[in-house]
Amino acid sequence: HGYDLLVVGSANADLVVGVDRRPAAGETVLGSDLVIHPGGKGANQAAAAARLGARTTLLARVGDDTYGRLLAEAQRAAGADTAGLLEGKDAPTGVALITVDAAGDNSIVVAPGANARLTPDDIAGASALFEAAAVVSLQLEIPLETVAAAARAAAEHGARIVLNPSPPAPLPEDVLALCDPLVVNEHEARRLLPGHTLSTDPKEWATALLGLGPRSVVITLGAGGALVAGPGAGTAGAVLVPSPPVKAVDTTGAGDAFTGALGWRLGRGDGLEQAVRYAVRVGSFAVTRAGAQESYPSAAEVETSSVSGSAGASG
Ligand code: RIB
Ligand code: NA
Repeated sequence: HGYDLLVVGSANADLVVGVDRRPAAGETVLGSDLVIHPGGKGANQAAAAARLGARTTLLARVGDDTYGRLLAEAQRAAGADTAGLLEGKDAPTGVALITVDAAGDNSIVVAPGANARLTPDDIAGASALFEAAAVVSLQLEIPLETVAAAARAAAEHGARIVLNPSPPAPLPEDVLALCDPLVVNEHEARRLLPGHTLSTDPKEWATALLGLGPRSVVITLGAGGALVAGPGAGTAGAVLVPSPPVKAVDTTGAGDAFTGALGWRLGRGDGLEQAVRYAVRVGSFAVTRAGAQESYPSAAEVETSSVSGSAGASG
């Protein structure tokens, strides 16, 4: 394969303000100075994988503007190829308005802009990228019909599909059935399982999620690590991969780093559990630094950081 990983998704400029606490409705608070980072769940995943050494490209849309150029530059700086980055004059680059609180937790509002213009026609026009990709990774900050077209194109070309339904939206059954794995956090798991009364045991969520049809499931649990379920998950059917203890500075995009790393390792031929063990270390590293893409480690940083040893040893 020419690409270990093709990411199809969003590219946003992240406009970030630090706050002691979030304002309630009708309230004004003063925050830190504004910082602008390259972001977007798709761009983040591609940058994470590229920074680790993946041969990767991002199929996405940006506007003909400063933020679009910031995003293209960030992809190149991470080592991703920009063959799939489309620029249009009809809509501005997507923007994410982000507040990060004292605990490092974020809340995000996305103005999609050009991301909403990524169409099934763009997927059809990029068949060479699908043909070249071992793994195709998808999220939901672009139109759902485009996600579905990308999943179907990936399947046609025999690529493995990784899908993170974020922000959560109902997925067509045939698309769900192609996910290997479906990657969710707790919030996304709950949204995909309306009407289920979920216990505190993520293994039960995994069973319920597998019931929706994906080939495998990965549930990210923040500091609790990640749960792997499905055929790739050993004899017990589900494996909890612990996460090394880290001090959270900014969790923005840590899930994207995890998923980008996961897609890359799967594209390189790792088994699912093995790939998750690596991805957990990458995601943990990303929370220790500010921003999304700028916080992502190189492979050497993953190896040498204190983040690396404990996860491998304790699992
Ligand atoms: O997952 C984090 C990302 O979500 C941010 O970079 C922001 O752009 C939003 O897409
Ligand atoms: Na970060």
